[in-house]
Amino acid sequence: MILVTGATGQFGSKAIEHLLNKEVNPSEISALVRDASKAKSLIEKGIQIKEGDYTNYNSMVKAFQGIDKLLLVSSNNRDAIENRTAHHKNAIKAAKEVGVKHIVYTSFVRKPGFEDSAIADFQNSHLETERYLKESGIDYTILQNGIYAEMILAFIGDKVADTKTILFPAGEGNASWVLREELAEAAAKVMISKGHKNKTYTLTNTESVGFKSIAENLSAALGEKIEYKSPNVEEYRAILEKAGIPEMYIGMFDMWSTALKQQTMDEEDDSLTTFLNRKPTSVRQFIRNIYS
Ligand SMILES: NC(=O)c1ccc[n+]([C@@H]2O[C@H](COP(=O)([O-])OP(=O)(O)OC[C@H]3O[C@@H](n4cnc5c(N)ncnc54)[C@H](OP(=O)(O)O)[C@@H]3O)[C@@H](O)[C@H]2O)c1
Repeated sequence: MILVTGATGQFGSKAIEHLLNKEVNPSEISALVRDASKAKSLIEKGIQIKEGDYTNYNSMVKAFQGIDKLLLVSSNNRDAIENRTAHHKNAIKAAKEVGVKHIVYTSFVRKPGFEDSAIADFQNSHLETERYLKESGIDYTILQNGIYAEMILAFIGDKVADTKTILFPAGEGNASWVLREELAEAAAKVMISKGHKNKTYTLTNTESVGFKSIAENLSAALGEKIEYKSPNVEEYRAILEKAGIPEMYIGMFDMWSTALKQQTMDEEDDSLTTFLNRKPTSVRQFIRNIYS
């Protein structure tokens, strides 16, 4: 029996869809959800729903009974990064208690020097989880997922076609952007195929690109010139503050743009191509699909 956590989220729900596409019987899949009322579509597919929360150890001990393989989708807690680490450890500990045999964990792409980058805390949380998982003695597979291509849309904003400008302080930073959907497909493949015991995979695209190239792709898709401007962070923050953007989002954009500028996600790899049996969707294609 397989269990997917974060099953009402975007990654977990797609992973379940891909498990079903890969002919896994719905009766073989369980889903951990915080709120069963959000799981209607999963129930309709015949998936077994287990209510549980990463903050509630006993709920997970109950939910993980009889599970052989767990897809542990990392927490999205925004209050404090340490909360995420505690959530993941709680889940791994509960899995250990009930004898889960294998955990597949969604981590994040990591490059040497990450300790000094803008996303150091975020990376350390994943690193600590990976260590804890390895030390648990449970078989593991770590998926170091690249940055979602979908995040480009948040970074460039929804007014880009009107302003004809991408304003984002990522400088010349490149990243190997990848579709969440394709990462979920790879995770489903790992869940149902052999040979992944105690392995760590970097799952990124095969080409890294920056915002200059994204602006060119956007120009081609929209049929008009889109400029890329990379102000300094102080200027950028002031512009967002003036536009009334909440501090939580400003902090997030500041952190990710700085980390992109520091080239912390500029990591090309072929593993995802192998899992998908095709090349991952390029940023050019992604932009064309959205804006053309
Ligand atoms: N690689 C990247 O670029 C990237 C970008 C963003 C996020 N991520 C990471 O990848 C994960 C999956 O991405 P996503 O797009 O699917 O995020 P998402 O749509 O926000 O889904 C996160 C899931 O985690 C569940 N969750 C959060 N706190 C929980 C808790 N205390 N107990 C149990 N479940 C909890 C949520 O449950 P509810 O449905 O009840 O809210 C949701 O189902 C994120 O959580 C984050 O760690 C990666």
